[in-house]
Amino acid sequence: MPKKVYIETYGCQMNVVDSEVVVSILSGAGYVPTDNIGDAGLILINTCSIRDNAEQRIWGRLKAISHLKKRKHDVKIGIIGCMAERLKEKLIETDKLVDIVVGPDAYRELPLLVAEAEAGHKAVNVLLSREETYADISPVRMDKNGVSSFVSIMRGCNNMCAYCVVPYVRGAERSRNPESILKEVKDLYELGYREVTLLGQNVDSYKWDSNIETTGFPELLEKVAMINPLLRVRFSTSHPKDISDDLLHTISRYENICKHIHLPAQSGSSRILKLMNREYSREWYMDRVNTIRTIIPDCALSTDMITGFCTETKEDHKESLSLMDWAGFDFAYMFKYSERPGTKAARKYKDDVAENIKSERLSEMISLQNKLSAQAKKNDVGKVYEVLIEGFSKRSDEYLSGRTSRNKVVVFPGGGLKKGNYVKVLIERCTSATLIGKSI
Ligand code: 5AD
Ligand code: SF4
Repeated sequence: MPKKVYIETYGCQMNVVDSEVVVSILSGAGYVPTDNIGDAGLILINTCSIRDNAEQRIWGRLKAISHLKKRKHDVKIGIIGCMAERLKEKLIETDKLVDIVVGPDAYRELPLLVAEAEAGHKAVNVLLSREETYADISPVRMDKNGVSSFVSIMRGCNNMCAYCVVPYVRGAERSRNPESILKEVKDLYELGYREVTLLGQNVDSYKWDSNIETTGFPELLEKVAMINPLLRVRFSTSHPKDISDDLLHTISRYENICKHIHLPAQSGSSRILKLMNREYSREWYMDRVNTIRTIIPDCALSTDMITGFCTETKEDHKESLSLMDWAGFDFAYMFKYSERPGTKAARKYKDDVAENIKSERLSEMISLQNKLSAQAKKNDVGKVYEVLIEGFSKRSDEYLSGRTSRNKVVVFPGGGLKKGNYVKVLIERCTSATLIGKSI
């Protein structure tokens, strides 16, 4: 009987790919993945530390699965990823349920660590690395649709945003060898995938030096786009201080590079941006958006925003709202500031915006963004977009669902078409989340 591993993933898309890498490494040691937690001899939780509530959710989840261990004593539970890195041995000490703790750069050691745990010892490895990119490992794809997938192009982060735990839990930035990226993307295309998203904490600083040439992000993106015009390419995340005109020209030159940029602003106040150590001002951000609109006129834009960062005043908050309104973001992820131990903000500034004010500002921001998103969708009505079909719509098998290059979900009646196909769709109306149309 093969040993079974169940893996649950929290946090960002990087973690999704990491889980696929982990399954690949464990399959080399005789494990097969299972969707049924009750069946598994090994349960892994790939964790996120970005905000306190992300960690609280995982503590809650650990409690919820404790009965499995009481029922079957030989089940091993591992905490892997960012929270493993942040809390280290503390996890094992505070929670007797946990047998294995492995940080994001130590996944190659997992088979050994699991064996140690099976022999009755606690197993921990949270060493960070300056080189590890798992370049040679083919992730075992666990997405359900077989159409779009993520490809990691770099790991870690060298920016020191004052609020952010990522550099501490994922280590220094390192880029992955472009050959291994191109091979992985080609393999995905051969398998029938029609969309890849290149992932990194700050893709604009991707850089690989071989003896012959230097590959920056624009060159890498171009090479990926040239693999096949039927393969859509997306990427995330760009940093406003680093996104170059060169990159924007590359995006505009290739039809199959999606016209959507996720460009986290975080705040609209230059004073707060300075405290956040973002290394750009409100004016710089606006200039970048203007340049995007000039070079790629039909580009969709999305952002991340934090409300209630240390010392944020009502005026700072108004500036965040006015920046969002000015940019007319198609989409935004919005968060209340959550102090993370060890970060610059935690060490140097007071988390002095009251919880109820943070909540008030967040709901104001969300209602503004709802208006902007609705407006962005209304603007699409009456237009024709090319849609890559990802599968049936959630509500009905008579409708297909896919996305436009600008990353909007489109639902339409889909006689004779199937996932992975491209189809031109006339947008007839929209709901708050979806565009609805007919194929033409
Ligand atoms: N508190 C709230 N939001 C945060 N983010 C990162 N760190 C924090 C924090 N301490 C948000 C940022 C980032 C996104 C991934 O999470 O907006 O872009
Ligand atoms: Fe991803 Fe950051 Fe959460 Fe780690 S802490 S899983 S890098 S979002």
